[in-house]
Amino acid sequence: MNIIKVNDQDLGGKEAFNLIATDIKNGAKVLGLATGSSPITLYKEMTSSDIDFSNITSVNLDEYVGLNADNEQSYHYFMKDHLFNKKPFKNSYVPDGSDADAKDATSKYDKIIEENPIDIQVLGIGRNGHIGFNEPGSPLDGKTSKVALTESTIEANKRFFDDEKDVPRYAYSMGIGSIMKAKKIILLAYGENKADAIAKTVNGPVTSDVPASALQNHPDVTIIVDGAAASKL
Ligand code: GLP
Repeated sequence: MNIIKVNDQDLGGKEAFNLIATDIKNGAKVLGLATGSSPITLYKEMTSSDIDFSNITSVNLDEYVGLNADNEQSYHYFMKDHLFNKKPFKNSYVPDGSDADAKDATSKYDKIIEENPIDIQVLGIGRNGHIGFNEPGSPLDGKTSKVALTESTIEANKRFFDDEKDVPRYAYSMGIGSIMKAKKIILLAYGENKADAIAKTVNGPVTSDVPASALQNHPDVTIIVDGAAASKL
Protein backbone atom coordinates (compact mmCIF):
# COMPACT_ATOMS: atom_id res chain seq x y z
CA MET A 1 0.00 0.00 0.00
CA ASN A 2 1.26 3.39 -0.98
CA ILE A 3 0.37 6.05 1.60
CA ILE A 4 0.35 9.75 0.68
CA LYS A 5 0.03 12.10 3.62
CA VAL A 6 -1.33 15.55 2.80
CA ASN A 7 -1.91 18.66 4.86
CA ASP A 8 -5.58 18.96 4.02
CA GLN A 9 -8.42 17.64 1.94
CA ASP A 10 -7.87 20.18 -0.86
CA LEU A 11 -4.36 18.84 -1.40
CA GLY A 12 -5.70 15.30 -1.16
CA GLY A 13 -8.11 16.08 -3.98
CA LYS A 14 -5.23 17.33 -6.10
CA GLU A 15 -3.13 14.20 -5.44
CA ALA A 16 -6.03 11.93 -6.34
CA PHE A 17 -6.82 13.99 -9.43
CA ASN A 18 -3.20 13.74 -10.64
CA LEU A 19 -3.26 9.95 -10.33
CA ILE A 20 -6.52 9.75 -12.26
CA ALA A 21 -5.43 12.26 -14.94
CA THR A 22 -2.23 10.27 -15.53
CA ASP A 23 -4.19 7.04 -15.87
CA ILE A 24 -6.62 8.62 -18.31
CA LYS A 25 -3.68 9.88 -20.37
CA ASN A 26 -2.43 6.29 -20.36
CA GLY A 27 -5.73 4.96 -21.67
CA ALA A 28 -7.97 4.34 -18.63
CA LYS A 29 -11.60 4.24 -19.76
CA VAL A 30 -13.61 3.27 -16.67
CA LEU A 31 -13.60 5.09 -13.33
CA GLY A 32 -15.16 3.58 -10.23
CA LEU A 33 -16.55 6.49 -8.22
CA ALA A 34 -17.73 7.05 -4.67
CA THR A 35 -19.97 9.44 -2.79
CA GLY A 36 -19.51 11.02 0.63
CA SER A 37 -17.62 14.11 1.70
CA SER A 38 -14.14 12.62 1.11
CA PRO A 39 -14.16 12.67 -2.73
CA ILE A 40 -15.69 16.16 -3.02
CA THR A 41 -12.36 17.97 -3.48
CA LEU A 42 -11.35 15.40 -6.10
CA TYR A 43 -14.58 16.09 -7.99
CA LYS A 44 -13.87 19.83 -7.78
CA GLU A 45 -10.49 19.22 -9.42
CA MET A 46 -12.14 17.10 -12.09
CA THR A 47 -14.84 19.65 -12.90
CA SER A 48 -12.38 22.54 -13.11
CA SER A 49 -9.91 20.58 -15.26
CA ASP A 50 -9.85 20.66 -19.03
CA ILE A 51 -10.10 16.87 -19.25
CA ASP A 52 -12.88 15.65 -21.50
CA PHE A 53 -14.70 12.76 -19.81
CA SER A 54 -17.15 12.14 -22.65
CA ASN A 55 -15.29 8.97 -23.61
CA ILE A 56 -15.02 7.75 -20.03
CA THR A 57 -17.52 5.53 -18.25
CA SER A 58 -18.15 5.75 -14.52
CA VAL A 59 -19.45 3.01 -12.27
CA ASN A 60 -20.50 4.09 -8.80
CA LEU A 61 -20.21 2.01 -5.67
CA ASP A 62 -23.58 2.23 -4.05
CA GLU A 63 -27.06 3.70 -3.67
CA TYR A 64 -29.73 3.81 -0.98
CA VAL A 65 -32.61 1.41 -1.53
CA GLY A 66 -35.86 3.34 -1.96
CA LEU A 67 -34.43 6.57 -3.33
CA ASN A 68 -34.65 7.33 -7.03
CA ALA A 69 -32.14 9.41 -8.97
CA ASP A 70 -34.16 12.64 -8.56
CA ASN A 71 -34.24 12.41 -4.78
CA GLU A 72 -31.81 15.00 -3.43
CA GLN A 73 -30.52 12.54 -0.81
CA SER A 74 -29.77 9.85 -3.34
CA TYR A 75 -26.19 9.09 -4.30
CA HIS A 76 -27.19 9.42 -7.92
CA TYR A 77 -28.27 13.01 -7.28
CA PHE A 78 -25.04 13.67 -5.37
CA MET A 79 -22.99 12.50 -8.35
CA LYS A 80 -24.97 14.63 -10.81
CA ASP A 81 -24.63 17.63 -8.55
CA HIS A 82 -20.89 17.28 -7.87
CA LEU A 83 -19.69 15.91 -11.17
CA PHE A 84 -21.88 14.65 -14.00
CA ASN A 85 -23.90 17.86 -14.58
CA LYS A 86 -20.63 19.74 -14.99
CA LYS A 87 -18.59 17.04 -16.72
CA PRO A 88 -20.68 14.66 -18.79
CA PHE A 89 -19.40 11.11 -18.97
CA LYS A 90 -20.06 8.61 -21.76
CA ASN A 91 -22.07 6.47 -19.34
CA SER A 92 -22.58 7.02 -15.62
CA TYR A 93 -23.80 3.96 -13.78
CA VAL A 94 -25.21 3.99 -10.24
CA PRO A 95 -27.19 1.10 -8.72
CA ASP A 96 -30.93 1.63 -9.20
CA GLY A 97 -32.28 2.45 -5.74
CA SER A 98 -35.82 2.68 -7.11
CA ASP A 99 -35.78 -1.02 -8.05
CA ALA A 100 -37.42 -2.77 -5.08
CA ASP A 101 -36.50 -6.18 -6.48
CA ALA A 102 -33.05 -6.74 -4.96
CA LYS A 103 -32.24 -9.73 -7.13
CA ASP A 104 -33.01 -7.76 -10.27
CA ALA A 105 -31.16 -4.60 -9.16
CA THR A 106 -28.03 -6.44 -8.02
CA SER A 107 -27.75 -8.82 -10.98
CA LYS A 108 -28.19 -5.93 -13.42
CA TYR A 109 -25.42 -4.05 -11.65
CA ASP A 110 -23.07 -7.04 -11.67
CA LYS A 111 -23.57 -7.26 -15.43
CA ILE A 112 -22.66 -3.57 -15.79
CA ILE A 113 -19.50 -4.10 -13.70
CA GLU A 114 -18.54 -7.14 -15.77
CA GLU A 115 -19.01 -5.24 -19.02
CA ASN A 116 -17.05 -2.23 -17.78
CA PRO A 117 -13.90 -3.45 -16.00
CA ILE A 118 -12.81 -0.70 -13.63
CA ASP A 119 -9.43 0.91 -14.26
CA ILE A 120 -9.33 3.08 -11.14
CA GLN A 121 -11.63 2.79 -8.16
CA VAL A 122 -12.05 5.75 -5.81
CA LEU A 123 -13.07 4.85 -2.25
CA GLY A 124 -13.92 6.65 0.96
CA ILE A 125 -14.04 4.71 4.20
CA GLY A 126 -16.64 4.47 6.93
CA ARG A 127 -15.71 4.94 10.60
CA ASN A 128 -16.15 1.18 11.05
CA GLY A 129 -13.91 0.41 8.06
CA HIS A 130 -16.68 -0.09 5.53
CA ILE A 131 -16.03 0.52 1.84
CA GLY A 132 -18.93 1.24 -0.48
CA PHE A 133 -21.67 0.08 1.85
CA ASN A 134 -19.93 -3.20 2.65
CA GLU A 135 -20.38 -3.18 6.38
CA PRO A 136 -18.32 -5.30 8.83
CA GLY A 137 -19.09 -8.98 8.26
CA SER A 138 -19.49 -8.59 4.48
CA PRO A 139 -17.75 -11.30 2.46
CA LEU A 140 -14.39 -10.11 1.17
CA ASP A 141 -15.06 -11.72 -2.22
CA GLY A 142 -18.69 -10.61 -2.65
CA LYS A 143 -20.58 -9.17 -5.59
CA THR A 144 -23.31 -6.52 -5.58
CA SER A 145 -25.82 -7.06 -2.80
CA LYS A 146 -28.55 -5.46 -0.75
CA VAL A 147 -27.05 -4.57 2.61
CA ALA A 148 -28.53 -3.50 5.93
CA LEU A 149 -26.76 -0.39 7.18
CA THR A 150 -25.28 -0.53 10.67
CA GLU A 151 -26.32 1.88 13.40
CA SER A 152 -22.92 3.63 13.21
CA THR A 153 -23.38 4.26 9.48
CA ILE A 154 -26.95 5.50 9.93
CA GLU A 155 -25.67 7.77 12.69
CA ALA A 156 -22.84 9.10 10.48
CA ASN A 157 -25.13 9.68 7.50
CA LYS A 158 -28.04 11.31 9.29
CA ARG A 159 -26.39 14.73 8.93
CA PHE A 160 -27.56 14.74 5.30
CA PHE A 161 -31.23 14.16 6.21
CA ASP A 162 -33.81 16.35 7.98
CA ASP A 163 -34.65 13.56 10.39
CA GLU A 164 -32.79 10.40 11.41
CA LYS A 165 -35.88 8.33 10.60
CA ASP A 166 -35.55 9.44 6.96
CA VAL A 167 -32.13 7.77 6.61
CA PRO A 168 -32.65 4.65 4.49
CA ARG A 169 -31.86 1.40 6.30
CA TYR A 170 -30.73 -0.53 3.21
CA ALA A 171 -28.46 0.08 0.27
CA TYR A 172 -27.32 -1.67 -2.86
CA SER A 173 -23.54 -1.91 -2.83
CA MET A 174 -20.91 -3.19 -5.19
CA GLY A 175 -19.21 -6.08 -3.40
CA ILE A 176 -15.66 -6.17 -2.12
CA GLY A 177 -14.79 -8.87 -4.67
CA SER A 178 -15.70 -6.48 -7.49
CA ILE A 179 -13.85 -3.58 -5.86
CA MET A 180 -10.75 -5.80 -5.64
CA LYS A 181 -10.90 -6.42 -9.39
CA ALA A 182 -10.23 -2.74 -10.17
CA LYS A 183 -6.74 -2.32 -11.61
CA LYS A 184 -5.93 0.53 -9.28
CA ILE A 185 -7.56 1.76 -6.06
CA ILE A 186 -7.39 5.19 -4.41
CA LEU A 187 -8.75 5.42 -0.87
CA LEU A 188 -9.39 8.87 0.59
CA ALA A 189 -9.68 9.50 4.33
CA TYR A 190 -9.67 12.77 6.23
CA GLY A 191 -10.25 13.63 9.87
CA GLU A 192 -9.74 12.10 13.26
CA ASN A 193 -12.84 9.92 13.14
CA LYS A 194 -11.21 7.88 10.35
CA ALA A 195 -7.94 7.27 12.25
CA ASP A 196 -8.95 3.93 13.79
CA ALA A 197 -10.33 2.58 10.53
CA ILE A 198 -7.19 3.62 8.64
CA ALA A 199 -4.86 2.05 11.23
CA LYS A 200 -6.79 -1.24 11.06
CA THR A 201 -6.95 -1.10 7.25
CA VAL A 202 -3.19 -0.69 6.94
CA ASN A 203 -1.76 -2.58 9.92
CA GLY A 204 -4.51 -4.86 11.18
CA PRO A 205 -5.26 -8.41 10.11
CA VAL A 206 -7.23 -8.94 6.89
CA THR A 207 -10.68 -9.61 8.27
CA SER A 208 -14.28 -9.07 7.26
CA ASP A 209 -14.67 -7.23 10.58
CA VAL A 210 -12.77 -4.39 8.86
CA PRO A 211 -13.87 -4.58 5.21
CA ALA A 212 -11.17 -2.15 3.98
CA SER A 213 -8.45 -4.47 5.32
CA ALA A 214 -9.08 -6.61 2.20
CA LEU A 215 -7.18 -3.90 0.30
CA GLN A 216 -3.93 -5.25 1.78
CA ASN A 217 -4.30 -8.05 -0.78
CA HIS A 218 -4.62 -5.68 -3.75
CA PRO A 219 -1.43 -4.96 -5.75
CA ASP A 220 -2.03 -1.24 -6.46
CA VAL A 221 -3.63 0.74 -3.64
CA THR A 222 -2.89 4.37 -2.81
CA ILE A 223 -4.25 5.75 0.45
CA ILE A 224 -4.47 9.53 0.66
CA VAL A 225 -4.81 10.76 4.23
CA ASP A 226 -4.51 13.96 6.20
CA GLY A 227 -2.53 14.10 9.47
CA ALA A 228 -5.62 13.40 11.60
CA ALA A 229 -6.64 10.28 9.66
CA ALA A 230 -3.01 9.10 9.73
CA SER A 231 -2.57 9.79 13.44
CA LYS A 232 -2.82 6.14 14.53
CA LEU A 233 -0.59 4.69 11.85
C1 GLP B 1 -20.95 6.27 3.11
C2 GLP B 1 -20.62 5.72 1.73
C3 GLP B 1 -19.18 5.33 1.61
C4 GLP B 1 -18.29 6.45 2.13
C5 GLP B 1 -18.59 6.70 3.58
C6 GLP B 1 -17.72 7.77 4.19
O1 GLP B 1 -21.22 5.26 4.01
N1 GLP B 1 -21.43 4.60 1.38
O2 GLP B 1 -18.88 5.02 0.25
O3 GLP B 1 -16.95 6.10 1.97
O4 GLP B 1 -19.96 7.11 3.67
O5 GLP B 1 -18.21 9.03 3.85
P1 GLP B 1 -17.43 10.38 4.09
O6 GLP B 1 -16.45 10.50 3.00
O7 GLP B 1 -18.52 11.44 3.99
O8 GLP B 1 -16.84 10.32 5.43
